[in-house]
Amino acid sequence: MAAGCQLAVLSVISCVLLWAAACQGALEVSYYDETCPRAEGIVRAEVRKAVHANAGVGAGLIRLLFHDCLCICIAYAKLPVRAFGTPQGCEASVLLDASEDNPEPEQDGIPNTGLRGLDVIDAAKDAVEEACPGTVSCADILAFAARDASYLLSGYRIDFEMPAGRLDGRYSNATETLGPLPSPFANHSELATKFAAKGLDVDDMVVLSGAHSVSRAHCTSVLHRLGNGSDMDPSFKRWLRRRCLTGPSDAAGNTTVRQDTVTGAVLDSQYYTNVLRHRVLFTSDAALLASPQTARMVRDYANGDGQWEKKFEMAMVKMAGIDVKDGTDGEIRKNCRSVNSN
Ligand code: HEM
Ligand SMILES: *[C@@H]1O[C@H](CO)[C@@H](O)[C@H](O)[C@H]1NC(C)=O
Ligand SMILES: *[C@@H]1O[C@H](CO)[C@@H](O)[C@H](O)[C@H]1NC(C)=O
Ligand SMILES: *[C@@H]1O[C@H](CO)[C@@H](O)[C@H](O)[C@H]1NC(C)=O
Ligand SMILES: *[C@@H]1O[C@H](CO)[C@@H](O)[C@H](O)[C@H]1NC(C)=O
Repeated sequence: MAAGCQLAVLSVISCVLLWAAACQGALEVSYYDETCPRAEGIVRAEVRKAVHANAGVGAGLIRLLFHDCLCICIAYAKLPVRAFGTPQGCEASVLLDASEDNPEPEQDGIPNTGLRGLDVIDAAKDAVEEACPGTVSCADILAFAARDASYLLSGYRIDFEMPAGRLDGRYSNATETLGPLPSPFANHSELATKFAAKGLDVDDMVVLSGAHSVSRAHCTSVLHRLGNGSDMDPSFKRWLRRRCLTGPSDAAGNTTVRQDTVTGAVLDSQYYTNVLRHRVLFTSDAALLASPQTARMVRDYANGDGQWEKKFEMAMVKMAGIDVKDGTDGEIRKNCRSVNSN
């Protein structure tokens, strides 16, 4: 066998092994108890400070985790050699700023427009580094922060342990956000396909979409539903038209609207009532009524009996476990905005 071929075979085998190690990582609750017992408390304190100053930033943290975790294990499809060290899941790749080496990181991807909360992760990382240098990954800090934001924004009703032990990735690519991340214009089958690609089923999809009961969206994602054709509730549509369509024509790009006009600052099951009443912003929200199976889930969660909160806790843990790096191919970044120089 020629050397090149042997290398290729070895690479394929290693990729399979690495994939198994990296993509089905075993995370643990209380992971930092020995090495950095204050880590989770420090993160929560920073998130609390930020959410008190601006609750919307808490929503931003929850969305950040979603956008980090849904980016795909795509590089493994490009065997053999480039595949090393680039699974894409909850590995803090969304936090990386543009740099000379990587001028177009995930942050620049179209689906990542309007991300916020990165400064909270920075503050938490600084404080954690002071307590235990080089010990706690940015990916774990982001997972803790999204959990803490859910706790605070739900009025402490969403309260769960977040397993940890993720490493940080070194790869981040704006173009590769378009494939895996769902668009607000997506229909039911596109959404289900994108969630399924990451091991999330339709129940997870419906449950996690409930995060759209807090905070904001830019008008640009909703303009196409303000015409006469859409299923949107007429009074909700009138309100959106007033917010989004008055003023200079480019203003719509900057104007934001509340996702939930009833309990907009609280992470709760109001979202499902809004879906049933056709008072939601996106095609992707309305699409949850497009199949009998998801429509039934929407009606169940709209009951407000606490069932959704429990499901959301489990789905967040599941989402935060997608394609994590716990092998030897990741690192613990010193600064969450850039890969370590080594
Ligand atoms: C079902 C597919 C989804 C689509 C198409 C989608 C799309 C969007 C869009 C377009 C925005 C507005 C961003 C802006 O204009 O600033 C948004 C906001 C948000 N999304 Fe989603 N999303 C989806 C699922 C999720 C999931 C699963 C979560 C988390 C569990 C989530 C959490 C949030 C939060 C918290 C916000 C508000 C962010 C802020 O205020 O900064 N979304 N989403
Ligand atoms: C980013 O992804 C695209 C599409 O997969 C690829 O063509 C491009 O080379 C990648 N860029 C980097 C810097 O790896
Ligand atoms: C959903 O969207 C995809 C892509 O735009 C399209 O191919 C498909 O026909 C749509 N499905 C339905 C049921 O509208
Ligand atoms: C929508 O309907 C209203 C009232 O029926 C009508 O005045 C308006 O011209 C329509 N707009 C469009 C874009 O069709
Ligand atoms: C929208 O935001 C951009 C960038 O911040 C700014 O240049 C532009 O003037 C804003 N447009 C309006 C109408 O406010």
